[in-house]
Amino acid sequence: MVKAVVLGASGGIGQPLSLLCKISTLIDELALFDVVNTPGVAADLSHISSKAKIEGFVAAKGDMKGETEETETAKKNALTGADVVIIPAGVPRKPGMTRDDLFNINAGIVKGLVEACAKYCPKAAILVISNPVNSTVPIAAEVLKKAGVFDPKKLFGVTTLDVVRAETFIQDISGERNTDKVVVPVIGGHSGNTIVPLFSQAKPSVDIPGDKLDALVHRVQFGGDEVVKAKDGAGSATLSMAYAGFRFAESVIKALKGEKGIVEPTFVYLPGVSGGDEIAKATGVDYFSVPCELGPSGVEKATNILGSANDNEKKLIDECIKGLKTNIESGVTFATK
Ligand code: APR
Repeated sequence: MVKAVVLGASGGIGQPLSLLCKISTLIDELALFDVVNTPGVAADLSHISSKAKIEGFVAAKGDMKGETEETETAKKNALTGADVVIIPAGVPRKPGMTRDDLFNINAGIVKGLVEACAKYCPKAAILVISNPVNSTVPIAAEVLKKAGVFDPKKLFGVTTLDVVRAETFIQDISGERNTDKVVVPVIGGHSGNTIVPLFSQAKPSVDIPGDKLDALVHRVQFGGDEVVKAKDGAGSATLSMAYAGFRFAESVIKALKGEKGIVEPTFVYLPGVSGGDEIAKATGVDYFSVPCELGPSGVEKATNILGSANDNEKKLIDECIKGLKTNIESGVTFATK
């Protein structure tokens, strides 16, 4: 029996992600929680004749901060018994809102939701999608530490969309459309130049013309902006993010169930996972996305592939670390203040 929970299930990412979870053959029970609309989303999805039993739980009307007893009960009912919790809850940036405003709101949302996970499903794998992932994952870790239930092997920042973009954009250059064929490790963080695609490590190796490489790296780092621009102010990547989040969630579920040989890049707390200390020492940061071997207990081993990066990629890694340090500090400061 696998129970999955989506927190923020009524949103642009949450709805398609919930749909994919509903039709997954790996999920037996699916609980949706949001501050609005979850009964409707769950009722709609419940008419699909796939295996997962689905239920929607919603906060008390108008309780956006999740402070009432009714909201607490909804969270409790959604989360109890969860094996995997996926968190795309948040707010998009609205006109007049600064990045700091957005950070403070999303940071508070993630903090509140992870506090509920700590109480009601302390052993669940937690997959954080809410941005900025470089900061929200450290926030989640601090919350779990404070509650005394932090298992670093089971806390994941979802960076799969960067991998998906690298795999797709490389095919745009090669003209070959076969997603199973190219695997590109993408490491570092999950925004702008903290994202480091290691095309030199693509498998099978790909020949990218020198004049196209910089543009390709930039496209992976700032691919999200293409979507924001194309949506003309109406939002950011939701459908591709839902696909990526689901693809990663399925890998985690398969690994928890004992399937061997699953490796996925994910943003993890390095000192808490096997192989992580070496990477923390090399980078000077405690959180980093690297290819991780997944297993029944979560992250079984973080792989240090930094050494195999070429000189250009090493420069990108240096840039990444500078930005990442600040992002991680912001998260830790927010959670511990
Ligand atoms: N608890 C649960 N759900 C919440 C909460 C909360 N405290 N606060 C907000 N939500 C819900 C909203 O009601 C909404 O349904 O989160 C959902 C977010 O959906 P959208 O506003 O459509 O945003 P979306 O585009 O899905 O992005 C969500 O993911 O990639 C990141 O940057 C993005 O942080 C943002 C998040």
